[in-house]
Amino acid sequence: MRLIRTENYQEMSLEAGKIIVKKIHSKPNITLGLATGSTPKGVYDYLIQNHKENGTSFEQVNTINLDEYAGLPAKDPQSYHYFMGQNLFNHIDISEGHTHIPNGAANDLDNECRRYEELIKDLGGVDLQLLGIGQNGHIGFNEPGTPFNSRTHLVTLAQDTREANSRFFHSITDVPTHAITMGIASILDSKEILLLVSGINKAEALSKFMNGEISEDFPASALKNHKNVTVIADRDALKYC
Ligand code: PGA
Repeated sequence: MRLIRTENYQEMSLEAGKIIVKKIHSKPNITLGLATGSTPKGVYDYLIQNHKENGTSFEQVNTINLDEYAGLPAKDPQSYHYFMGQNLFNHIDISEGHTHIPNGAANDLDNECRRYEELIKDLGGVDLQLLGIGQNGHIGFNEPGTPFNSRTHLVTLAQDTREANSRFFHSITDVPTHAITMGIASILDSKEILLLVSGINKAEALSKFMNGEISEDFPASALKNHKNVTVIADRDALKYC
C-alpha cells in the first residue's frame, strides 16, 4: 500500500486528479470506478478543468459507479445519477451510454444487482477505482459486517450512514433506507484503487484502517488484501496515524 500525504482537501484532489488524467492518456478506453459524496467532488472539478483547458478526452472512457439509493429515480436530485451528472458527466465529453450507475428504481432490485455485476465483467473489469471511506469504515455502501466475498447487492443502510448523509436531504426521514452497492469482492477485483481521505471527521477511520486488523467489522480493511492501493490523505485525516 502506498500513502500520499497532502496538506489539505485541494491538494488531495489534485494528486488524485493527476493520477487519473495520466491513466486516461495511457489508456483512453479505461474503465473508471467512481464514487459520490463530498470526498471526490474536488477530483471531479479537476477532471472538468483538465478537460476544458488541456483537452483531455473522456470519449472512450467507461465509468462504473459504486452505488445508488434504492427507490430514487435517476432524475431525483438526491440520486447518485443526478449527482454524477451535475458534478462530472454534464461537463465532459463522455459518450452517452458509457456511464453506468446501478438503477435504484428498477422493479426487481436483485435482478438489477446481477445485471450490474455482469456489466462490470463485460467491460473487462474496473481499471482504476476511486473510493472514499465512511466514518464507520464502509466502502461503497458496504456497511460493517458485510462479507468480504460479497458481490453487487441490496443493502439496508446503517443508521450512522443515514445520519451522515442526511446533510444532503431535508431531514433524516427523507434518506432512503436501502441502496444497491458493488460488493467488497467486486471492489477488490479492480486492478488499481485510490482511497481518498480528508478531514478530521475521517481521522479515526483512517487510523483504524492504517493500524487496525483486517476484519469484516471494518469493511475498508479488506483493501489491505489488494496489491495496488494508493491512499491519498490530508493532514487532518492523518492526525491519529
Ligand atoms: P463522503 O462519504 O465522501 O461524503 O464523506 C464517503 C463515504 O461515506 O463513503
